[in-house]
Amino acid sequence: QTLLQLLPLKEEGKMERITIPCLRIEDYPEFPWRGMHLDVSRHFFPADSIKRYIDILAMYKMNVFHWHLTDDQGWRIEIKKHPELTEIGAWREDTRDREWSYDQFPVREGKPVYGGYYTQEEIREIVAYAAERFITIVPEIDVPGHSWAALYACPQLSCSGVPYFHSPSDPFSFTDPFCAGNPGTYRLLEDVFSELIDLFPSPYIHLGGDEAKKDPWEKCEKCRKIMEEEGLEDVEQLQSYFINRIGAFINSKGRRYIGWDEILEGGLPEQAAVMSWRGEEGGIEAARMGHPVVMVPSHTLYFNSSQFDPELEGGAGGGVSSLEDVYRYDPVPGELEGAEREVILGVQGCLWTEHIQTWHQVEVKLLPRLLALSEIAWNPSQERSFPAFRKRVVNHFRRLDAAGFRYFIPAPTGLEAHNAYLEGEPATIRLENPLEYGTIVMTTDGSEPGKDSPEFTTGLTLHKDGVVRSAILLPNGRMGPVRSSQIEFLAPVAPAAVEPSSLSPGIDFRYLEGRITTLDDLEKMDPVREGAVDSLRLIPERAGDYFGIEFEGWLKIDSLDVYTFTTRSDDGSRLFIGERMVVDNDGIHAPQRIRGAIALAPGFHPIRVQFFEGSYGEELTVTLHGRKSGPLDLDHMLYH
Ligand code: ACM
Ligand code: ZN
Repeated sequence: QTLLQLLPLKEEGKMERITIPCLRIEDYPEFPWRGMHLDVSRHFFPADSIKRYIDILAMYKMNVFHWHLTDDQGWRIEIKKHPELTEIGAWREDTRDREWSYDQFPVREGKPVYGGYYTQEEIREIVAYAAERFITIVPEIDVPGHSWAALYACPQLSCSGVPYFHSPSDPFSFTDPFCAGNPGTYRLLEDVFSELIDLFPSPYIHLGGDEAKKDPWEKCEKCRKIMEEEGLEDVEQLQSYFINRIGAFINSKGRRYIGWDEILEGGLPEQAAVMSWRGEEGGIEAARMGHPVVMVPSHTLYFNSSQFDPELEGGAGGGVSSLEDVYRYDPVPGELEGAEREVILGVQGCLWTEHIQTWHQVEVKLLPRLLALSEIAWNPSQERSFPAFRKRVVNHFRRLDAAGFRYFIPAPTGLEAHNAYLEGEPATIRLENPLEYGTIVMTTDGSEPGKDSPEFTTGLTLHKDGVVRSAILLPNGRMGPVRSSQIEFLAPVAPAAVEPSSLSPGIDFRYLEGRITTLDDLEKMDPVREGAVDSLRLIPERAGDYFGIEFEGWLKIDSLDVYTFTTRSDDGSRLFIGERMVVDNDGIHAPQRIRGAIALAPGFHPIRVQFFEGSYGEELTVTLHGRKSGPLDLDHMLYH
């Protein structure tokens, strides 16, 4: 591949003599495990797509393809001894026109179905195809959790033994695991892993182990019995027993095994290698015990995240991890010393496909971040420079074009979706090209920018409301996503007539409890408690779930400006100045940031912030930024 990269691209229809300088290539990787993962359960991609994936990995010198073959939403590998796993477990409600969600589940005949699986013949062909390209496929069967599809086919192997015909009522609850006390579970999984091992020559087999819900084990007679027999103190130890037992079977076939970092819970089996995804902690802990570790921290190496701007990229979940974030990641945590550093086997990117329905999206998520991943797998950190790397990346765009791969192109920066300026003052706009390659094209009349649109050069001065639409145009004619930026000029809101001497620092709150799904519910509820605090943060004494807080007071503004409020909350929040709703971040959601702007004249303005928490995590952060005054300390501007 290194030699290939030295060759010029052949122009269409032109035969030419190619010369390259006389040279010696000396190249070797930093890590033996240079991996990239793909989830084919949430959305299924046929064998030809998988070969294409392998082509991309080979082009960038990756040597491990971690194939996530099973999960709750579909079983994707033919098992000859248990055809029901694919006959039933590979099919679910039709979702080709929608993203996957926790509410989808396999359905039986007679209903529209979505799914698919790889036959053993296809798998053998793909394994050989990968081997020709020096790629080892590490297959994963994810147990004991994430096994809904399997348990749909074999309901007798869950703790309840009851077939699943209903989706879970809580969208964030995971499905039940395999029963760890039923000998049938181990018989089935030994059959599955036997066939898996026959198909895949990989020295490592992945057995999953992540996010297993253990409360069904607590209530299950069979599970309690095996815990007693084996002297296991809790369900964490039962998980460890389960992993150890499946792992020992894999070992008995002459293979090693690896699992997600949850396999540390309840005691890490002696033979296990660990894939650290919930940050680096699990990897560090395992490395200190001398276990082999592959680093895949989700904050940086989950490529289902956005590369740039979740709004522009349609928010495929998982926050943002830019090309630069990936490039700057060091797979060997600084906390490790000496021999502990030696057990870091390598680094890997993961691509989960809950929200990725098409092959086009897969490639755009993968590229060009895969190039950064390849560099961190090949080059020691002290030999890296992002500015130099970025220049090399843009040169690769032509190679990717020639090979027919799609890749992500960012949008210009400098404007948000909504941009507010003070009425009567002209606004000067500057757009920047984060690629430093290609040009910025734009329109101000609402039309779609294209190759013939004006090029943005230095500055643009606007006097009235409108929309700026901008995109990056590459020399090859390809254009990135269009950023639409509303421009709005705001008249300042006058302060309230309030006597400052009657106010003191702080803000009042009302605390409410109950099942809330929207902030509209707060009005119908009676407060459990009222009081005052000195900041717009979650009050310390509160229930774990299902509560609301309403803050009310005054905001002291010192200078005429356009102010942008941001709330980041899980679940909903809203911010009002007087009667005007400036931020609407309502609804049940993971931490989500929403902004809103208002022009304010100096003086005191009534402020009200509402928040509610359903279940799962909770968070509220409110920040304030003035166009002229910059970031402000909101807590010191609150009065009551
Ligand atoms: C994982 O993301 N559940 C490994
Ligand atoms: Zn059980």
